[in-house]
Amino acid sequence: MILVTGAAGSLGGLVLQRISRRADVVAASRTPELVQAEVPVRRIDFDDPSTLAKGFAGAHVVLLVSAGYGEDDEVIARHQAAIEAAERAGVGHIVYTSLTGSGDHLATALAHRWTERRLMAGRAYWTVLRNGLYAELSIPDARHAAATGRLTGPQGAGKLASVAREDLAAAAAVTLDRPAVHRNKIYELVGDTALGGADIARAVAAATGQQIAYEPIALSELRSELRTSGVPDWQIPMVVSAYANIAAGFLNSTESHLTELLGRAPRPALDVITAALGSYEAGRHGHD
Ligand SMILES: NC(=O)c1ccc[n+]([C@@H]2O[C@H](COP(=O)([O-])OP(=O)(O)OC[C@H]3O[C@@H](n4cnc5c(N)ncnc54)[C@H](OP(=O)(O)O)[C@@H]3O)[C@@H](O)[C@H]2O)c1
Repeated sequence: MILVTGAAGSLGGLVLQRISRRADVVAASRTPELVQAEVPVRRIDFDDPSTLAKGFAGAHVVLLVSAGYGEDDEVIARHQAAIEAAERAGVGHIVYTSLTGSGDHLATALAHRWTERRLMAGRAYWTVLRNGLYAELSIPDARHAAATGRLTGPQGAGKLASVAREDLAAAAAVTLDRPAVHRNKIYELVGDTALGGADIARAVAAATGQQIAYEPIALSELRSELRTSGVPDWQIPMVVSAYANIAAGFLNSTESHLTELLGRAPRPALDVITAALGSYEAGRHGHD
């Protein structure tokens, strides 16, 4: 049996869309009622030990979707509890959704690298999917640019090899299909083109027929905006460090196993961004 955690989340949901025709798939979520896939669903919350005791029973392979929302100690405790419970249940192989190697300086890297190390020292086979940053993360900036004619951000002249979330789900599904082939392997999964602010501004301009200027701002300006925006405290260093890493040229590597795993080129990140813009524009006109 293959068990997929985080099944009500975006990535887990997309993985389940791809594998739910198999008879041996079970989904796990903190909120089973929100899971869309037509498969049996169990309640697993890494923060709630009572759901872990039996949650992994009968699973041979687990896709452990990282539960990275919180301070490092919270995320590490969650992942530790989940891995221990899976090991106690006799799970033979854990596939983990981690972070690209070029993201080592990101604030989110610590908990991912801790989890990788824990898996490698553990009893089960492992596969580490080192996911790049989602192309979808650029959609809010692109929408703001479409609305204002200015694309602002503190990424300077830096570029990011972002990747469609749907391609990361497809890669995870490939590993779950034949887990033995992927035992104890690390896969780098980033996009095949690195994009900067000016590239996104040009694409938004082409998609909307407007002039869009890319205007870099300082990291301190972003931090001040975040402080007053209501995002949780732990999220601020994560967002700031993402832009700082792009600006410093640490996230532009396009070295990736994605094409090899998918058997095709990844979906261009600009497609993901401009397609979302199209639906936003259509929605806006629909409301006019
Ligand atoms: N590569 C990137 O750019 C990027 C960006 C943001 C986040 N991430 C990481 O990738 C993960 C998956 O991304 P996503 O797009 O699916 O995010 P998402 O849609 O926000 O989903 C968050 C996921 O975390 C799970 N989760 C949270 N707390 C949990 C807990 N206590 N126990 C068990 N599961 C818990 C949720 O599962 P249920 O709701 O089903 O319980 C859900 O799958 C995130 O959790 C985060 O660690 C990566």
